Amino acid sequence: MSYNVAIDGPAGAGKSTIARAVARRRNLIYVDTGAMYRAMALFMLRERVDPGDADAVGRKCQEADITIRYENGEQVVYLNGENVTPLLRTEEVGNMASLTSAQPAVRRKLVELQQTLARESDCIMDGRDIGTCVLPDAQVKIYLTASSQVRARRRFDELTARGEKCDLARIRADIEERDDRDMHRETSPLRQAEDAVLVDSSEMTVEEVIDRILEICEKSPR
Ligand code: DC
Repeated sequence: MSYNVAIDGPAGAGKSTIARAVARRRNLIYVDTGAMYRAMALFMLRERVDPGDADAVGRKCQEADITIRYENGEQVVYLNGENVTPLLRTEEVGNMASLTSAQPAVRRKLVELQQTLARESDCIMDGRDIGTCVLPDAQVKIYLTASSQVRARRRFDELTARGEKCDLARIRADIEERDDRDMHRETSPLRQAEDAVLVDSSEMTVEEVIDRILEICEKSPR
């Protein structure tokens, strides 16, 4: 049986940074499920599908072949044979992903892919419903969160460092809107699994969070 670590939490909690670091130290594959939902969202944007139209999204998502490969230890996402990885981390794609990921047909398709990956390899997988739906039997479950104020500030610093002009209040409002959608949708809403360990990173450094998660993993070794 493979060894699986599930990390769920809201947007901007630092899941991917932490999961990538833990993967390296524990020799696990890092599976970023948000990137799969983002690739599907990019497809819907390109095809000009209305994200609120469940029938249209359900039909169209059958035309999107999403596959994952690992190149130099990094996850690379292919959409119908095209490497779309560099196109996924924009606000436009993130907001569309929050909408299209609420559609059951999209979730069915991507959850199946995620479960296959987890069966085949020891991995750390991050997302919104990993501990609750995708990997209910994961050996380790973590719910990583931080206040919306702290998450907005981190995102603001990241964008400013890249030379992008942005507004802190706007970023915070976007984060809160996305949290609300992810937590209140009907299918697989974001919530802490009953057996998940809560880690609030609001007052912690990245290194402290990594150490805390490695410590939690030590309690349920392979
Ligand atoms: O983690 P992220 O920002 O890359 O995720 C983008 C969107 O995809 C997010 O708004 C919610 C959705 N998502 C999801 O519904 N389930 C997952 N397991 C991962 C992401």
